[in-house]
Amino acid sequence: MCRSPMRPSAGTGPLAAQKGELLWSRRVVLRCGHYDQRVDLEAASRASRQLWDSMAKGWDARHAYFEASARPVVDVMLERLAPRSGDVVVELAAGTGMVGFAASPLVGPGGRVIVSDFAPAMVDVATRLANSLALDNVECRVLDAEHLDLPDQCADGVLCRWGYMLMPDLPAALRETRRILRPGGRLSCAVFGDPAENPWATLPMRVLRERGHVDPPQAGAPGILALADRDRLGGLLTDAGFADLRLDDVRLSWRFDSMDEYWSFLTDVAGAIATVIAGLDDTEQRSVRDELAALVAPYGSDVITLPALVVVASAL
Ligand SMILES: C[S@@+](CC[C@H](N)C(=O)[O-])C[C@H]1O[C@@H](n2cnc3c(N)ncnc32)[C@H](O)[C@@H]1O
Repeated sequence: MCRSPMRPSAGTGPLAAQKGELLWSRRVVLRCGHYDQRVDLEAASRASRQLWDSMAKGWDARHAYFEASARPVVDVMLERLAPRSGDVVVELAAGTGMVGFAASPLVGPGGRVIVSDFAPAMVDVATRLANSLALDNVECRVLDAEHLDLPDQCADGVLCRWGYMLMPDLPAALRETRRILRPGGRLSCAVFGDPAENPWATLPMRVLRERGHVDPPQAGAPGILALADRDRLGGLLTDAGFADLRLDDVRLSWRFDSMDEYWSFLTDVAGAIATVIAGLDDTEQRSVRDELAALVAPYGSDVITLPALVVVASAL
């Protein structure tokens, strides 16, 4: 049975962050530049949680779209995890819970899937969806992947799609993941790969950068493409104690019926990109949109089909 999400005691509301933290979050997390490990990781986490809480409505509205467009990623992640009947599987940074829901029938009634995210609004959506799908072996919880409130070696498998790359303290998150996995337990996660193969993200970032709204990305800073470098991804996993690393490329397409639809996708669900756009005045938003429309023209005029390359990393 899916439980109601537990809410953290503080720091989740729009007024929770101090002005300095919001400023910090724009420069460091949202603008993906000036990344500096000396910054306050707790403030980074609060700002990120607040940002993703605000994206929950957009992800809820597009649950079916993501389900259809990114199903190949789910299939490869589950194939690599290979959960068995009776297993306990934890999904981290689960958003609306799509990957964990797909694992639910594989672990069966004797198993359990913990679908978790640190943004309470995302967990609210996942809870509602799990209940509507009558997924009795799914439990939805608010959990921060960087500080997991779960016992050692409690999981047979961990899933995380498009989550790790956004975490300011990624080494801590990977160590926490290894800690909750039993010996022989497997991680199967997905990140976006080579920037050149992800124009859906690089083109808007390019426009925003060239117009002075974001700084050039700094190595190591959290962001959509932060784990595109396979060597860095492999190194981080190895440092956290993982072995038997396997990387699989999965290609998918984001299809939009119009430029308006692509623009809403960016402003409703695209995390940092959405926040930077929201901070621009109407005239500047229109200019950014027009410039982007010209750049995506080669991908279709009526229907725009933008490719994406996802890397599924699995390890023991
Ligand atoms: C791009 S969305 C992906 C959602 C979902 N995994 C999917 O693929 O449909 C990123 C998610 O990561 C979550 N997230 C980011 N940092 C997190 C952290 N430290 N702990 C838990 N969740 C986190 C956000 O709240 C957001 O829901």
